Amino acid sequence: MLQCAPMTEPALTTEIKNAIAKRRTFAIISHPDAGKTTLTEKLLLYSGMIQTAGMVRGRKGGKVAVSDWMGMEQERGISITASAMQFPYKNAIINVLDTPGHQDFSEDTYRTLTAADCAIMVIDAAKGVETQTRKLFAVCRLRGIPVMTFVNKMDMYGREPLDLMHEVEEVLGIHSSAINWPVGGGREFTGVVDRRTQELLLFTKKSVGGASKAAVERISLKDPDVKNHVSEDLWKKLHNELELLEVAGNPYNHENFLRGQVTPVFFASALNNFGVEPFFDAFVNMAPPPGPRPADTPSGEIIIDPVENDFSAYVFKLQANMNPKHRDSTAFLRICSGRFERDLVVKHHRLNKELRLSRPHSMLAQDRNTVDLAYPGDVVGVINPGIFSIGDTISLKGGFNFKPLPSFQPEIFARVRPKDVAKRKSFDKGVEQMTAEGTVQMLSSWDGLEFFVAAVGRLQFDVLQYRLKAEYNVDTLLETLPFQSSAWLMGDPETFDPPVAVLKTRDRQGRPVILFKTAWDKDYTARKCPNHPLADMA
Ligand code: G4P
Repeated sequence: MLQCAPMTEPALTTEIKNAIAKRRTFAIISHPDAGKTTLTEKLLLYSGMIQTAGMVRGRKGGKVAVSDWMGMEQERGISITASAMQFPYKNAIINVLDTPGHQDFSEDTYRTLTAADCAIMVIDAAKGVETQTRKLFAVCRLRGIPVMTFVNKMDMYGREPLDLMHEVEEVLGIHSSAINWPVGGGREFTGVVDRRTQELLLFTKKSVGGASKAAVERISLKDPDVKNHVSEDLWKKLHNELELLEVAGNPYNHENFLRGQVTPVFFASALNNFGVEPFFDAFVNMAPPPGPRPADTPSGEIIIDPVENDFSAYVFKLQANMNPKHRDSTAFLRICSGRFERDLVVKHHRLNKELRLSRPHSMLAQDRNTVDLAYPGDVVGVINPGIFSIGDTISLKGGFNFKPLPSFQPEIFARVRPKDVAKRKSFDKGVEQMTAEGTVQMLSSWDGLEFFVAAVGRLQFDVLQYRLKAEYNVDTLLETLPFQSSAWLMGDPETFDPPVAVLKTRDRQGRPVILFKTAWDKDYTARKCPNHPLADMA
């Protein structure tokens, strides 16, 4: 049992400062199959949390994924809901925010990024920057969070490293700076050169499929014998590329990394454990600890400092019935300042109400570990008796509100109704609950007679239908609508006369939202209706 005895102010400040300095709270962003799950698992392997890799990733072997919560995830073998895992890695405390890694993604994925202090972008060396990575990177950019790049699968024959660096710059519009450089690719990928220490790191597999750590040998590039460790051709190529990087590559600048202007790039193979540990070590060194966050007060914006301010946090995710054994709902809090203690009495800003944070827990698979103490950067789940909404701020003394979370532009829309009309009441209750949780967004027709659901990804609809059935016992019919784009309508809605076919809806706050069949239709309407500007819903 951890001791929560009252502390003197300076002792508490030191405790919080130390806790913050150790914390790294991040999300992994990638396109499905790039290796996010494998990398997460290797982080668990190298931190000593698991002794053998293959348990988390081996979905096809029927083993349980660490972040598998809902029955549906297990049925489909995918990770849908974003959650967080915490564990020590060497001297650091790692908080990995689990972003859904599926063909389709949801607003949950985006919102999770608001709780991260930095991101690791995993790129498949053969495929380069793919769609989902691009979309997630855009959210990191919006928030100005630093991004480290992990070029994975170097053991497969992929693209030239220089070509991949160039693509990151071109497609994402960020400078890339190589921290290490691969020795060969495909079968010849045996190591990397650490450009900072000027060492050649050679890796040797110690097990089939990278189940256990790889052995590493470090040789200084100044060692006259160094070139004898690789073939003559590889050495020549390596030598030329390293020279080219020195002359033409972007130097690494830490300040620019923290500002999100340059991404440090690492080449590796997560599966073989080649280059994985040096990457994690560099990550802990380079990634920022939890920092200050802006908040609003009635008299203007203030900055909440993680050490100086008392406890504060905000809700970035809500989830009901994660585990059928516990039929309750959970609000996930990202702690922003001060020290969190079990049973802390806090102020709920929006409701202007005091409440006790009871039964807080952190998560690893189906286990719930009760949290006694937590610090900025940590994520805790607290029981939600229906009082939390996404974006709510809680704090010890109250008086401020963290900036509202952005809501993201829906790209797909549907009409949904219960198969059995007698189930209307349960249906309405379920849809209401899931809209509050942010599973989907809800729109209604201007006459208020019809309801539509809107989402960033198709998966959100699947989750809605699944949960309506599993939790509310309602089978539903869902008809996807032929609209792909949306915008808030400014100006007088009564006089809006669009030149193309649109669907006129309102969001939950009653603001007019127009749905367009194509992005072209939207642009055309904006040009033809200058008195009715269209605002993006982001
Ligand atoms: P994701 O979470 O980003 O979707 O990707 P995941 O880690 O599940 O990896 C997708 C596939 O890529 C897996 O193969 C995994 O073994 C493979 N992979 C990951 N890292 C590397 C790497 O460094 N080198 C190589 N060669 N492959 C890698 P799978 O066949 O789809 O799954 P499984 O049967 O191995 O579980």
